[in-house]
Amino acid sequence: MNAVYTNVPDSSPFSLGNDQAYQAWRDRKLQQYPESPEELLVQVVDPANPDSTESQQMLGILRKTNMVIYRCKGVARADKEIPRKLGHHFGLERLDPNLLADDDGITSLELVAGKSLRGYIPYSNRRLQWHTDGYYNTPDRQIRAFILHCVRPALQGGENGLIDHELVYIRLRDENPDYIRALMQADVMTIPANEEDSSAGRVEQPGPVFSVEPATGCLHMRYTARTRSIVWADDEASRAAVAALQDILAAEDGVFHYKLGPGEGLICNNVLHSRTAFVNGNNESEQRLMYRARYYDRIRDTGMMA
Ligand SMILES: [Fe+2]
Repeated sequence: MNAVYTNVPDSSPFSLGNDQAYQAWRDRKLQQYPESPEELLVQVVDPANPDSTESQQMLGILRKTNMVIYRCKGVARADKEIPRKLGHHFGLERLDPNLLADDDGITSLELVAGKSLRGYIPYSNRRLQWHTDGYYNTPDRQIRAFILHCVRPALQGGENGLIDHELVYIRLRDENPDYIRALMQADVMTIPANEEDSSAGRVEQPGPVFSVEPATGCLHMRYTARTRSIVWADDEASRAAVAALQDILAAEDGVFHYKLGPGEGLICNNVLHSRTAFVNGNNESEQRLMYRARYYDRIRDTGMMA
């Protein structure tokens, strides 16, 4: 391989040259790692304003797995202030203004014929394959965290698959460090320019799958399992690494499956996620509505030294 790699400091556990730091971090990471989605759950009285006990519980889980599911004890309200205030509570301020988002930067995900017709799958009821959010964004607009707040689930389906991207890194590196080397190439995954919709104005976006954030030393992942509108580096090592990543996701080891209920939500450091297809019912209460907030910030106090 003759590639440019994203910069990783020698002291980082994510440096391939520092196996000692990696092993120490890995051991800590895997110790008592949750095995069921119930272990990710925290009950909160008011998700817009968790109290200090609830916050600490949530932070403890977030530090371990990069994700937590909250469950509102009270009546579920359709209120976008819930994810906004919850985000603020955890240091998430810089919202990504999605082109199709509602004006306030928090997106209502629901079946909207006009939008899904334009090919934007998140607004349809089809299955979503494994991805991290904003993988097509420019380097200065990478999504480091998001909140998915459920107002109403679908009648059937709409279950999320979730896996901590740090766990995926571990599986790959343990299998073959060359996979990591390939996936850290600065141009391993390229999103072609947006030809379908020139108003979106997106230019070609090459980038790594794994990178280390200079500001925090945290691992960042950019990935989609989509095969359309994506160009992988065309060399043997990259192909092998992408295949190994697909195998790990298919093996389901470490994957949590969870269908968010009314008043429940996910707050995470942009972990890998998928969604099954869904079917809405005839009543409004059976029609899936999620609020999604995407942030450039990472959740406060969940860094490497946390
Ligand atoms: Fe997503």
